[in-house]
Amino acid sequence: MYKEGMLRKDALKGKTLIVTGGGTGLGKSMGQYFLELGANLVIASRKAEVLEKAADELRASTGGSVLPLACDVRNYEEVEKVIEGTVTEFGTVHGLLNNAAGNFISPTERLSHRAFDAVVDIVLKGSYNFTLALGKKWIANGQPGTILNIVTTYAWTGSGYVVPSACGKAGVLAMTRSLAVEWAKYGIRNNAIAPGPFPTEGAWSRLLPGDLKDKLDPAQRVPLKRVGDHRELANLAAYLMSDFSAYINGEVITIDGGEWLKNGGEFSFLEMIKPEMWDQLQGMRSKS
Ligand code: HXC
Ligand code: NAP
Repeated sequence: MYKEGMLRKDALKGKTLIVTGGGTGLGKSMGQYFLELGANLVIASRKAEVLEKAADELRASTGGSVLPLACDVRNYEEVEKVIEGTVTEFGTVHGLLNNAAGNFISPTERLSHRAFDAVVDIVLKGSYNFTLALGKKWIANGQPGTILNIVTTYAWTGSGYVVPSACGKAGVLAMTRSLAVEWAKYGIRNNAIAPGPFPTEGAWSRLLPGDLKDKLDPAQRVPLKRVGDHRELANLAAYLMSDFSAYINGEVITIDGGEWLKNGGEFSFLEMIKPEMWDQLQGMRSKS
């Protein structure tokens, strides 16, 4: 059931949505579902050839309108050009999905300051560049809009070994909640999704490099004992981009099978205790 589309077929009909990092991984999967629901899609990232190929595939599989526009989200002028290009092609923009990210694992003391910048700039600066450029336009035009930001659960717990990403995502979450209040008067909603592990080439190659992916199974950290299916995330993202979620504003929705709570819970490790041992422990309790 969770591998199927959830919303009715016209849920995003007539909407023009920009997805950063929309040529690969989760951005591409969410964009594909937006197209299936009737949206016009703009995918923006650095690699023009990756975008072109993704756009061809998305058009072929959905029959929808896809505009690929190359851009580095760290560069404000390039971000403005994507918005201008979208308006030229489709007349307006209704929604933005800040999905582009950079990340890798490293002990923090081994990072150069440029490595720290690279990740924080893609995640935080990239998200505020698009948010600011589009927000200014919407407010000047008296037009409502919807912004959805992809963060992670360590945006609030923090995490060693991915510290630049944690800093960037925490900033994006702060922006989401701040603007949800400040820009509500303009009809601009701001929400976020915090996914747990969803297999993608981009994330897996950088977060589980080499044979780490064979040694560390991310599913074992999840109470539901599986990783996420792209369709599950796409269903949630489409709902939050659609007018069905019109009263949801300033929320971050976790979709991680219970992963972060399990790993924060002091006694979650008792999962390793087998039923026979619980029997023994129960016996000890009744004797005392
Ligand atoms: C340490 C590294 C490094 C690594 C690069 N650097 N990779 N340092 N470990 N693995 C350093 C470089 O040496 C350089 O510093 C600086 O970072 C900038 O490197 P560039 O290659 O010039 O950067 P750039 O071309 O801007 O590429 C950005 C990138 C790259 C982040 C480094 O990996 C990228 O393009 N990523 C995009 C896609 C991505 O990361 N997807 C995963 C998202 S997954 P010096 O000092 O040498 O100049 C995700 C999941 C979250 O976010 C939650 C999971 C549960
Ligand atoms: P991905 O395929 O590597 O996606 C990252 C995208 O960001 C790529 O399309 C990349 O395209 C784009 N990008 C990177 N730097 C950019 C820049 N400077 N300017 C413009 N675009 C840039 O990885 P993913 O797993 O799908 O991740 C998508 C989102 O989900 C990210 O926000 C990530 O943090 C989040 N997330 C993923 C997981 C997971 O388990 N997969 C879990 C939690 C959160 P180019 O290389 O063409 O620029």
